[in-house]
Amino acid sequence: MLTPNMNYSHLKSSYLFYNIAQKTKRYLEEHPDAHLYRMGIGDVSLPLCDAVVKGLHIAADDQAKAETFNGYMPECGAPFLRSAVGEYYRRRSIDIADDEVFISSGASDELGDILDLFDRSNRSLIIEPAYPAYVDANVMGGREIVHLPSSRENGFLPLPDDNTDAELIYLCSPNNPTGAVFDRDQLKKWVDRANAHGSVILFDAAYEAFIEDPALPHSIFEIEGARTCAIEICSLSKTAGFTGTRLGYTVIPKELVRNGMNFNEMWIRNRTTKTNGVSYIIQRAACEVFTPEGQQQIHENIAVYKQNARTLMKALDKPGIWYTGGKNAPYIWMECPDGMGSWEFFDKLLNEAQIVGTPGEGFGKCGEGYFRFSTFGSVEDTQKAAEKLVELLG
Ligand code: MLT
Repeated sequence: MLTPNMNYSHLKSSYLFYNIAQKTKRYLEEHPDAHLYRMGIGDVSLPLCDAVVKGLHIAADDQAKAETFNGYMPECGAPFLRSAVGEYYRRRSIDIADDEVFISSGASDELGDILDLFDRSNRSLIIEPAYPAYVDANVMGGREIVHLPSSRENGFLPLPDDNTDAELIYLCSPNNPTGAVFDRDQLKKWVDRANAHGSVILFDAAYEAFIEDPALPHSIFEIEGARTCAIEICSLSKTAGFTGTRLGYTVIPKELVRNGMNFNEMWIRNRTTKTNGVSYIIQRAACEVFTPEGQQQIHENIAVYKQNARTLMKALDKPGIWYTGGKNAPYIWMECPDGMGSWEFFDKLLNEAQIVGTPGEGFGKCGEGYFRFSTFGSVEDTQKAAEKLVELLG
């Protein structure tokens, strides 16, 4: 008889954002006229910027004519887009070659798929609270997870020590869910540790475009030594509103080698076997994100989300609630009031203010007692939700 992947039996019965969606759906069934203020999953509310929409139209027209039509795309990404992303790094004085850039259908897809490169015997170090897909993808693959709890005391930015013994290290900066960002010295400690132990860092930089402090690094490859120990995974989901359009990119330096195996070459082998690439239309549109016009427009949208963050932070300041994030990241991580549990606070917010957020417990045990707000809602909803928060907590 066939044996299923029994690792699935070790997963929580359902995924965090699915649970929230179900609870929200039930509330709406019981209160069909209610308007919900959705600040749970980090899904964007602003439409794609004009430059990207123009790219979509051009690409659609290309596909309508024999002379410009594209069939299968190169599995690792269209050369024009790999080059646009490579340039994006080089403009910031980060030395990345075009063939070190791989185009993907999004960071969450890639964070799971990339595990193909590593033997199952490797342990994965996950700093918690953590984006739950890191944990679930490792559980599905039957990998041992080394949980590294972080806390308010270390600013949710723990550093390696003798107990952080694992071959794979997940770092997410700016962090989802806490909004904390590693500085250069802190990242250098992780890079040095990884190089010293032969580990590989999976660096999730999905929120790099939200960093406003000029001293903070946007890429692990700004850190000396990272080319021999890190893979960087990025996404246009939040940066350019691609949650429904889907596109990401991954950087694997050619110097990343373990046991004589080159990870850049292995990923080419993997992609050419397992995908037929991202569609031409989406890659052509994504290319516009990296033009001066596209950069200006996506940053105008990011500025709107930053304004939402300020609105929410002001609302939390009034009742004196402790929070972090919001400045260099699109998430605000707050302490639940009056020692409430995070799911208890979720229910209170939903029932008494029609606000949907994300309970900290969903990001790991040490997230209990905290709560996350996404700042990707509409300006009007965020303003109204902020007023309701002040009323409820003030
Ligand atoms: C989140 O809310 O944590 C993210 O939107 C989830 C994701 O990017 O998949």
